[in-house]
Amino acid sequence: MNESPFDALARHYDEWYDGKGKVAFKTELAALRPLLPGLPKPWLEIGVGSGRFAAELGIEQGIDPSVELLALARKRGISVLWGEGEETPYPHHSFGTVFLLTTWAFLEDRAAVLKHIGQLLKPEGVLVNGYLDREGKWGAGYVEKGKSGHPLHRHARFATYSEVRTDIEAAGFTVTGTWSTLFAGPGGLTEVEEPKVGYVPGASFVVLLATLK
Ligand SMILES: C[S@@+](CC[C@H](N)C(=O)[O-])C[C@H]1O[C@@H](n2cnc3c(N)ncnc32)[C@H](O)[C@@H]1O
Repeated sequence: MNESPFDALARHYDEWYDGKGKVAFKTELAALRPLLPGLPKPWLEIGVGSGRFAAELGIEQGIDPSVELLALARKRGISVLWGEGEETPYPHHSFGTVFLLTTWAFLEDRAAVLKHIGQLLKPEGVLVNGYLDREGKWGAGYVEKGKSGHPLHRHARFATYSEVRTDIEAAGFTVTGTWSTLFAGPGGLTEVEEPKVGYVPGASFVVLLATLK
């Protein structure tokens, strides 16, 4: 496994959630929280990072290739493993729900990760993919930052709703629900936004729920 670009910037990345990203993060959480009561346990987050989402949502376990982010996640009480979502040591059919939360853009081989999630889930299991959409203001801004050589975003490949949905369906999942939020851009977000049902163009954060066929 290559050294993660998140390692050198781990603390800076993690501090974003309490600073510039505070309202955006709360907006993303507001889209995810209403879904939680319907999601079967146990829960795993692939790309758990510093455990920001996991700690807020009650996700017990996580895996990530950044040792420095994992150290922060561990301090937040998440049970973590170092590794990538393409292949993990967890037993097959052992999770009720697998989350990907703002990790989609950073996955090198999405088809392999989706195939492996299909193996990790129990037959009635659920995939929750909350991703940053390329056509929203935040995603579009990150694409531009990546082009200018931003140390993290130059490694990202942001996708559109139809691309994400196509990949998920090609891996054998059925999309059972979509929610959209984060319409205001980085400069204009002052209050937490309420999620809208379905994919709504202009959303920066989109959540897809999918089950195995
Ligand atoms: C934008 S961060 C999201 C972090 C996390 N969800 C949080 O709450 O802090 C993207 C994460 O994807 C991870 N990542 C990159 N490639 C990965 C892979 N192949 N498998 C799993 N995670 C990966 C990165 O290390 C990083 O932690």
